[in-house]
Order: sequence, then structure tokens, then C-alpha cells
Amino acid sequence: MDAEEFRRHAHRLVDWMADYMGTVESLPVKSRVAPGEVIGQLPTTAPQQGETFEAIFDDFRRIVMPGITHWQHPNFFAYFPANSSRPSVLAEMLMSTLGVNGMLWQTSPAATELETRVMQWLRDMIGLPPSFTGVIQDAASAATLCAILTARERALQGRGNRAGLNDAGAFTTYCSAETHSSIEKDVRIAGLGSENLRSIPIDEDFGIRIDLLQQAIAADRVAGRTPLLVTATVGGTANGGFDRVDALADICEREGLWLHVDAAWAGSAFVVPEARHLMKGCERADSVVLNPHKWLFTNFDCTAYFVRDPQALLDTFAIQRVYFDTAEQGRVIDYRDWGVPLGRRFRALKLWFVIRAYGVEGLQATIRQHIASAQEFASWIEASEDFEVMAPAKLALVVFRYHPEDVEDPAELDALNARLLAALNDDGRMYLTPGKTGGRATIRFSVGQTDTRRAHVEKAWEIIRETARSLR
Ligand SMILES: Cc1ncc(COP(=O)(O)O)c(C=O)c1O
Repeated sequence: MDAEEFRRHAHRLVDWMADYMGTVESLPVKSRVAPGEVIGQLPTTAPQQGETFEAIFDDFRRIVMPGITHWQHPNFFAYFPANSSRPSVLAEMLMSTLGVNGMLWQTSPAATELETRVMQWLRDMIGLPPSFTGVIQDAASAATLCAILTARERALQGRGNRAGLNDAGAFTTYCSAETHSSIEKDVRIAGLGSENLRSIPIDEDFGIRIDLLQQAIAADRVAGRTPLLVTATVGGTANGGFDRVDALADICEREGLWLHVDAAWAGSAFVVPEARHLMKGCERADSVVLNPHKWLFTNFDCTAYFVRDPQALLDTFAIQRVYFDTAEQGRVIDYRDWGVPLGRRFRALKLWFVIRAYGVEGLQATIRQHIASAQEFASWIEASEDFEVMAPAKLALVVFRYHPEDVEDPAELDALNARLLAALNDDGRMYLTPGKTGGRATIRFSVGQTDTRRAHVEKAWEIIRETARSLR
């Protein structure tokens, strides 16, 4: 493809992109393809000769597009959002054009210095103190892995990295029963083992039971194990629960444990000052992770990882080779040493575009609007006779179920809600995720796609009621 062909195709793609953004609302949110339908249309071997752009783009529209679930549809109420925005997409175009690998300062000084500045902005925007330093990572799962590995190596004074874990003893880690699955995955990868992760029951507010956590730590000490790290859940995935981080910080300070905060979803909401009571205590954590790729209008992927002691990252991850030697070494940041992968995309660029294009006030206004719409949705449920809110809706996640007066049998209610969810998702006008609350089937309604407005939420409520009625 020569430069002129590239220009022509790129203009066409930009037109397609703008049209897609303008019309996505008319598509079914969840893809309707059956398993195997996409792969069945793809040749089993790669083409020997290059194909034309026309042929590739035709197949993109014909084969790929039907297999897309539209995360940027304003009626995407499933999971947590992975929202995007036009400024972020434009920045992604530049990022992929530059094709930068920002592993060292020298391999693109602007990538490093922009990241440092944008992370300072974001830290201040969410109300974390200047004692935190930020670094961009690909995913919250990877940032949490860094927290566990740095905590492990701090406790072992680097011996784990040098000699392995055979003589390390049994480290134990703690989280609530509402904690995201990534914490257990990371504990496994870090060599600490799922069996040494204590999943502590929650209180009626869906936060970790502080008394039970203390008992678990004490029991582990008595048994000769070494308590290492507590993960605080700030915005749980299943039910939107919040741990009392200040109480966890008290325990961690007293016991000498690493306190890691998983605010992957809720962290973005802290750009709104009135939401910050939910992060009280985060300023005392060792590390905090949040995903601008969830709820800060920055395309997947972009995770912000804030640490109190960047040296702990370097002590854990830095490995020197001659090909990393540069004249500036020691005077500049080489982000390759701040996480697991060596190579690094220029993610700071899209966050910079987004923050500048929206301004802090624009970001606040959009997030406030999402929270207000979700709160209103919760109030409609509260006021209705045959639906109920199943967990405190503190931000923009509402967990509810259909509960007609004449159905009391718990298993029957579970089945009814499963049927309601399936009917709603098959209908195509919205997309929702199943939940489980207190052992009972629930439905999660998560507001946060960039273009979701009150009218979408209001319409969704109408469709949910209609569909529920039609099932009976
Ligand atoms: C609370 C929480 N933590 C962690 C994660 C994992 O995020 P990532 O996909 O960035 O690893 C999620 C994903 O939804 C989440 O909700």
C-alpha cells in the first residue's frame, strides 16, 4: 500500500468511523452471531498473495461487524463500561501511526514525559495526595500483580526474585468475598497460591468485615504464616460494594501489611468531589489502581497505577542489559522498569487528548450525569411494586431483581430473573449482565457508556418493565 492509497483508504475509514459512532444506537447491542459463525466464514489458511483493501474492508463489514457486541452503544449497561470518546479515538490514530515503544526515555522522550505529567494531572483530579506517583499499565489485573509482587519482594528483601519461593514460607493475602477475580489470578501468578488468599465475608453494606479480617490475620500469625497484603475493594464488580479503606489502613499500618486499593471502576468517579467520601483512606494505601479505560472516556486499554514508593517497583522489576544503556540513565524515568512488560504503548497520548478535550469540568459533568441517571433508575425501582434494589447503589451500578408479589419461592424467582435477563439481552435493545446477591440471582445495570443519557436509562426502565410483564 503506497502513501496515496493509504491516504484514500484512511479518509474512507474515518468516514466509516464517524458514521458508525453516529448510528451505533440503531444496532442490536449484543452480537447475534452463533458460536462458530464468524470462524466458519474465514479461510483455514492465510492468503499467499496480498489482497486489496476493498476485499479486506468488505469482509470486515460482512464477517466481522455482525460478530461485534457494541460496547459504545448508549444502551450498553452490561459489566462495567469500557467507554471511549472521539478525542481518544483520534489519539489512538496518532499512536498507531507513530508506533512508538516507550520502554526507555530515549526511545521517545515525549512518551515518558507526557505520561509523567498526565499521571500527575490524574492523581490531582481524583484527589490522591502528591505523595503518589503514577504509571500507566495495560490492565488493572497487571497493576494488582505488580502490587503483590512488590509487596512480596519488599517482605523478602528481593530474595524471592533471586532465589525463588521455595524457602519463602507461607505468605497470606486478604480481600473481601466481593473482590474481583483478578486478585485471585494475580495471587496465583505471584506464586502465593489461591489457598493462601483469605476471602473475608462482607457486612450488610457489601464491605469487608473488619472484625473477621483481624481474626484471620491473627489466626495466620498463630499458625506461623506471614500476612502480606490486603486488597481493598473500592467499587466491587458484582454489587458495587465499598470497603472502609481507612479501617483497612489502620490494620495494615499496625500489622505492617501492604494495602492495595482496587478502584478499577469507581476510581474514575473520584474526579467528582462529592463522590470522594467513598475513597476515604485511599491516601494511606501503598498502591491504588483505576481504569480510565472503564469510565474516563479513554479507549481500552489504559490503566492508571499509583504507588507511594516507585523505588519498590524498580527494586522488583529492574533488570539491566547493555542494550538498555543510555547516556541519560539515572537522570530520567525509564518506564520499562515500572511493570511486567518491557515494551510500552504510548497510552498517555489518548489520556492527554481526553483530559484536554473535555477539561476536568467536562469529565465531571458527564460522570455526574451517569451517576444521577443510575440513581434515578434505582429510585424508580424502589418505587415500583414488583422490582427491588438488591445492593446499595452508591454510584452508577444498580443491582436489582424482578419480584412480583405472588412469587415467593427463591428458586422460582431466580429462574424468572434469568429468563428476564435472557429476554432483554436477546431483544437487542440493551445489554445487561447477571449478578448474584446473597446467593440469589440478580441483574446488574451499569451506567457509564460515553453517550448514555437520562433518556436512554428511562427507555431501558420502560423496556425492562414491559419485558418482565410479558413473561408472566
Ligand atoms: C473491580 C475490578 N477490578 C479489576 C478488574 C479487572 O480489570 P482489567 O480488565 O483492567 O484487568 C475489573 C474488571 O471489570 C473490575 O471490575
